[in-house]
Amino acid sequence: MADLKLVLFGILLLFCSCEAYKILIIFPVPSTSHGILGDNMVKHLLNAGHEVTYITPFINKKKYDHPNLTIIDVSANEEHFDENLTNIQMIMEGKLDFKDPILMTQLAIMMASSTLGNPNIQKFLKDPNQQFDVIIGEYMFSDMYSVFQAVFQCPLIWFSTIQPHWAILKMVHAPLNPSYNSDYIIGNVAPFTFNERVYELWVQLKGLYYHKYINPGPEEKIYSELVAPILKAQGKPVPNYEELKYNASLVLGNSQVVFGNPVPLPPNYQHIGGYHIDEDVKPLPEDLKKLMDNAKNGVIYFSLGSNVKSKDLPESMKEGLLELFGKLKQTVIWKFEKNLDNTPKNVHIVQWAPQQSLLAHPNLALFISHGGLLSVTEAVYFGKPFIAIPVFADQFLNANSFQKMGAAVKVDLTYNLHKDLEVALNKVLPELPKYTARIKEISAAYHDSPMKPKDALNFWVEHVVRTRGAPHLRSVALLVPLYQQAYLDLLAVILAVTVVILLVIRRILSLFTSESPKLKRN
Ligand SMILES: *[C@@H]1O[C@H](CO)[C@@H](O)[C@H](O)[C@H]1NC(C)=O
Ligand SMILES: *[C@@H]1O[C@H](CO)[C@@H](O)[C@H](O)[C@H]1NC(C)=O
Ligand SMILES: *[C@@H]1O[C@H](CO)[C@@H](O)[C@H](O)[C@H]1NC(C)=O
Repeated sequence: MADLKLVLFGILLLFCSCEAYKILIIFPVPSTSHGILGDNMVKHLLNAGHEVTYITPFINKKKYDHPNLTIIDVSANEEHFDENLTNIQMIMEGKLDFKDPILMTQLAIMMASSTLGNPNIQKFLKDPNQQFDVIIGEYMFSDMYSVFQAVFQCPLIWFSTIQPHWAILKMVHAPLNPSYNSDYIIGNVAPFTFNERVYELWVQLKGLYYHKYINPGPEEKIYSELVAPILKAQGKPVPNYEELKYNASLVLGNSQVVFGNPVPLPPNYQHIGGYHIDEDVKPLPEDLKKLMDNAKNGVIYFSLGSNVKSKDLPESMKEGLLELFGKLKQTVIWKFEKNLDNTPKNVHIVQWAPQQSLLAHPNLALFISHGGLLSVTEAVYFGKPFIAIPVFADQFLNANSFQKMGAAVKVDLTYNLHKDLEVALNKVLPELPKYTARIKEISAAYHDSPMKPKDALNFWVEHVVRTRGAPHLRSVALLVPLYQQAYLDLLAVILAVTVVILLVIRRILSLFTSESPKLKRN
């Protein structure tokens, strides 16, 4: 018996890595969903026994109370996230062109500069006692967080908040082929039409041009002003910015293949989408539980996420939505920051909702969401069909992908939302079993996986440390310039040879022609 215990203990030891590492996690974007992703990453790595230093704009002392956690406050970044960026009226009127990847990149550089220049970060970088085994940096369309490698001289892992896209892939491999892979912000679903294919190529070429020729200017300036002096003072080498940029060991993606984007990826891209979901569903508060349990005709849960503010929603839209929901036989739970007057009997406004617990409830029939990746992942996890009303960023891509797979319907965000939503509800509700069956298939494929997302997260982070930066995973494509990958050199050779042959033929022909200008001159 004692022997058996010993063997079991031995097996346990084999499975748990038990080595504690020092990990730096950089999540500087002051947007709730990014905070959720950062917080949960920190939680899993702490639970695995590691020591974590967390750069975050969200400061909530109680939540982060853990002996092995150090917080570095970059809440000043909120200044750069002005609320016009998520103003629903400005979005509906097209005053904000979120389809412009260049705007996103410029915002990202501004955010990076604000982060690196933050007095808390400067103090941290200058502290000679800080040492790390690995850095995890959120890739938010800026390569700037790669400079932390130069200070701590350890491996870097990028974390990508969205599905695989060319901008993150080019950091570790090669851009994704635009003929079947949409820019995250355009959100086309392959196979593309001719026009879509040409547009995707144009957007990616423009993006690559900016990445290579326009962005490095301001980025290198920030590096040389805010980081290089620290390196020099510490007697550390000052690597080229270019070298740092392309030196990441791995990309962890908040994605899963079942989200409708099965593209070939290099070995150092790993999907961990869903790690933010609690394995143990928290019980619903008593009032919500009663509401859900008693909803004989099912519940529709409506939430536009954390960025769109209710105060920006025009009065006519609120009234239109209430009227529409009032006509339904289902119970409607609407997450809205403030209470509304004259709500119909079946409509319940909640300021805050435990979304995962609601989606887990058997009476939850349909989810109406903005199509943010966290919400979509939760819908897949719990197998609930949804109507997506994309607002910005990758939400269009998520909506289009799941609509194409038959598990969701997309509705455009306009002043006519209540009318368009009515059309969508009339389409989905009569066929709800079909949509539910489809999302349950996707859900089954999601859960049928060798490793849970949080275990994959811990494994790959530890793997990078254990293998000193995982050089064996790096794609050789990084060493092959784009023109060689596209065989542009071969094209040039073929063109040159063709021109030479044509010239020679012309020359030979001219020798045989008495009318030849050369002969005439002679
Ligand atoms: C904190 O880290 C140390 C090792 O660095 C470990 O022994 C200890 O168990 C950790 N504490 C907690 C609460 O995880
Ligand atoms: C938001 O937009 C309005 C109207 O375009 C402008 O007047 C205001 O200054 C903007 N606010 C910020 C913080 O940029
Ligand atoms: C490049 O990555 C390796 C392995 O991850 C790391 O040890 C090294 O410090 C990095 N190089 C620079 C210049 O940061």
